[in-house]
Amino acid sequence: MADDKTILTVALIGGTGKEGSGLAVRWAAAGYNVIIGSRDAARAEQKADELNTVLGAGIVSGTDNLTAATQADLVVLSVPYSAHQSTLETIREAVQGKILVDVTVPLGTGKASVVHLPEGQAAALEAQAFLGENVQVVAGFQNVSAEHLKDPDHVVDCDVLVCGNHRAAKDEVIKLVEAAGMRGYDAGRLENAIAIESLTPILISLNIRYKSKQAGIRITGIDNRDRS
Ligand SMILES: NC(=O)c1ccc[n+]([C@@H]2O[C@H](COP(=O)([O-])OP(=O)(O)OC[C@H]3O[C@@H](n4cnc5c(N)ncnc54)[C@H](OP(=O)(O)O)[C@@H]3O)[C@@H](O)[C@H]2O)c1
Repeated sequence: MADDKTILTVALIGGTGKEGSGLAVRWAAAGYNVIIGSRDAARAEQKADELNTVLGAGIVSGTDNLTAATQADLVVLSVPYSAHQSTLETIREAVQGKILVDVTVPLGTGKASVVHLPEGQAAALEAQAFLGENVQVVAGFQNVSAEHLKDPDHVVDCDVLVCGNHRAAKDEVIKLVEAAGMRGYDAGRLENAIAIESLTPILISLNIRYKSKQAGIRITGIDNRDRS
């Protein structure tokens, strides 16, 4: 358990999916209280049971998305872009006053390997505009393949770029990046989510071209990530 942890309970909205469940198992292993959210509480409970079996402990719980968001200190949104707006509508009131980490990549209806800018330019910017300034939206984890996350003992050879308009919120999310076994970098304001989200189709393109499932990014040239 990290000593400097201040966020205790994390909800993963869409946590039954590949990316959310991978983050969930890592955070639970690091000592966070983790709640899996789903449109269907029974499906969330089933996924929580699966993760608890992997962990060998009953520390992950599952419930519907609204209850999960209500019970958490920090909420992570990990759903397909087609479900982004409708899911935000479900949790809007429950996330007021909280940090919302948006993992969503706005893949279009065409090829997933081609950059698609949504109307609001980035999913995270759309989330911030919809939820209002009382929610601190932070974008992160879009460039980490779920393939890296599912086994909590696997060493992840990737870095994570985190952006948002509130430094303290980004610092909380960087703690979560580290708890999940990666290095996190403060990559500036939330507008930079346009570039971070757009990197994912490039990684998908690399995966297709080089027959991989694990393309990721590494930042070089920074020796000291001291956040003070
Ligand atoms: N997979 C990756 O490697 C990866 C990597 C980086 C970023 N991402 C991004 O992270 C997000 C989640 O990815 P994923 O692979 O975990 O997605 P996923 O498995 O396809 O879906 C995640 C969850 O979203 C919910 N969902 C699906 N369709 C929905 C709908 N129409 N309405 C409401 N909820 C719906 C489902 O939960 P319930 O049915 O239980 O409600 C599902 O389990 C995406 O935006 C993706 O682009 C993924």
